Amino acid sequence: MHPLVRDALREGTLRLTEAGVPSPAHDARVLLVTALETSAPLVLVDEVPASFRETFAALLERRCAREPLQQILGETGFRRLTLRVKPGVFIPRPETEIAIDVVHEFAAGGESVSVAADLCTGSGTLACALADEFPQASIYAVEVAADAAALARENLELTAPGRTWQVLQADVSDPRLTSQIPTCDVVVANPPYIPAGMVPREEEVLRWDPERALYGGGEDGLDVPREVARLAAKLLREGGLFVMEHADVQGAATQAMLREEMPGAFTDVKTRLDLAGRERFLVARRTANGQF
Ligand SMILES: C[S@@+](CC[C@H](N)C(=O)[O-])C[C@H]1O[C@@H](n2cnc3c(N)ncnc32)[C@H](O)[C@@H]1O
Repeated sequence: MHPLVRDALREGTLRLTEAGVPSPAHDARVLLVTALETSAPLVLVDEVPASFRETFAALLERRCAREPLQQILGETGFRRLTLRVKPGVFIPRPETEIAIDVVHEFAAGGESVSVAADLCTGSGTLACALADEFPQASIYAVEVAADAAALARENLELTAPGRTWQVLQADVSDPRLTSQIPTCDVVVANPPYIPAGMVPREEEVLRWDPERALYGGGEDGLDVPREVARLAAKLLREGGLFVMEHADVQGAATQAMLREEMPGAFTDVKTRLDLAGRERFLVARRTANGQF
């Protein structure tokens, strides 16, 4: 490895460690590659750009201030896509990808996925993945925040050109949505769900994710998820799939919410685990029952 690159990697890792960054070696390497403006493996780099030291120092400073890595890079991976990331809009998380696996399992069971909605779409995360992986489907994405809705449009334009999609800037409780979105085969959502008293531990989340993207409202954090479930019940066809992410402590509460507050509207109500074995997704199928 070029001595300058080797020294920079060591110093960068040390600085990030001292700043309390959770994955210092990984982040230093990613920022180093960004500053080197190369896609070559580090061992093969034999020249460094003139601006390298200055650029790397500036990137390190931002990360030491606990600015999320994805925001510094301006992008993040989600399933097989690269999505744009902007300040003020929730950064897509890898665990959310599981919601799309659930949709594939639904389709593999012979169900059609012609119309799908992503409620609380943020940067368009799940909507983009649906448009990419279910190219025949029409996708409707709902988001209340103007900056997030604009980024969702940008990401859909970037990742789903030629696909059929629409971003609606609206609150999920807006009754007009049921006439703006046709009957759906699938409704997915990663809404805000953190309970009022639960303060996130990571500085990156605390300082950079917008509050309205985190806190679900009410003591249990389920005010917005409740509205999401109500809208899903109105939008879904009989047999349609509902998948909603939640906190690992909300498995029982979200199941109870469907059973008690929307009795008869859903069947096959289950909780799906994430890769770490934590209860993270409410999964259910719409019944024929229109009343709840
Ligand atoms: C946890 S973030 C998830 C964003 C995206 N689904 C993802 O996984 O990256 C929740 C999003 O819901 C939006 N939101 C919060 N309350 C809402 C509401 N009542 N109606 C519509 N969107 C809402 C927030 O602005 C935020 O973008």
